[in-house]
Amino acid sequence: MTTTSQSLPGRIALVTGATSGIGRAAAHELAREGAEVIVHGRDPKRGEQVVAEIVQTLGQARFVAADLSDPTEVRRLADEAGAVDVLVNNAGLSWFGPTADLDVATYDALFDSNVRAPYFLVAALAPRMAANGVGSIVNVASMVADIGLAGAAAYGGTKATLAAMTRSWAAEFSPRGVRVNAVAPGPVYTAADPERIETLAATTLLGRAAQAEEIAQVITFLASPAAAHITGATIAADGGRTAV
Ligand SMILES: NC(=O)c1ccc[n+]([C@@H]2O[C@H](COP(=O)([O-])OP(=O)(O)OC[C@H]3O[C@@H](n4cnc5c(N)ncnc54)[C@H](OP(=O)(O)O)[C@@H]3O)[C@@H](O)[C@H]2O)c1
Repeated sequence: MTTTSQSLPGRIALVTGATSGIGRAAAHELAREGAEVIVHGRDPKRGEQVVAEIVQTLGQARFVAADLSDPTEVRRLADEAGAVDVLVNNAGLSWFGPTADLDVATYDALFDSNVRAPYFLVAALAPRMAANGVGSIVNVASMVADIGLAGAAAYGGTKATLAAMTRSWAAEFSPRGVRVNAVAPGPVYTAADPERIETLAATTLLGRAAQAEEIAQVITFLASPAAAHITGATIAADGGRTAV
């Protein structure tokens, strides 16, 4: 349902990992702002549930399933999404623990989902945005890209890489109208281990974790014309954790 105050009417937004947590909240928020949302994830039941939530009260959505650990699935997702105006690279895998406990398969899975998949989605979708002279890409990084957190070397490494790629993609695509930014959340109340989230929450200046909706609002702001002069930036949404 279009209203004059919506910031993304008529835009098409692909949100990866939108079947739960931050991605689901971002899908809702983008739809609320008038975008037609392509809800992505692996679980079709939860994907169709998110689509139903959007279609019932907010606007238009459809679900595309793809396992982003497989490069051919990444390519298929890009093909099935078609021309999009907004890409939110949100899907991600986390692993926390002693460095010596991380096996090679899990290390590879972290980099496959958190780095390779966003890279090849941008490779598939950004050139078309640039040819149209408009587009916005929002990558979901993490505060652990910027702080030394014991047990987060590999996961933090994936998110620091994503922040670095954000800057390079801005340099590559923004001269042709495509803004590329990242949001770096601190702890967020999602499906993740609640005890770890509470421990991290206590280290933030605000003394609490974020709700997924609070991160979704930053994502939607970055995707919208309200952020027209912002590109190449990584916006901290971490309760002040990286400020001190
Ligand atoms: N929660 C936090 O405290 C926090 C803090 C900082 C950054 N982040 C980042 O925020 C993003 C979202 O996190 P979240 O906590 O909202 O996660 P979540 O609730 O666990 O949801 C993860 C989403 O990613 C999808 N996904 C994961 N691996 C995938 C793969 N290989 N192929 C396709 N889809 C995949 C899942 O899809 P299915 O379930 O359908 O398979 C799900 O929709 C992640 O990038 C995470 O690193 C989270």
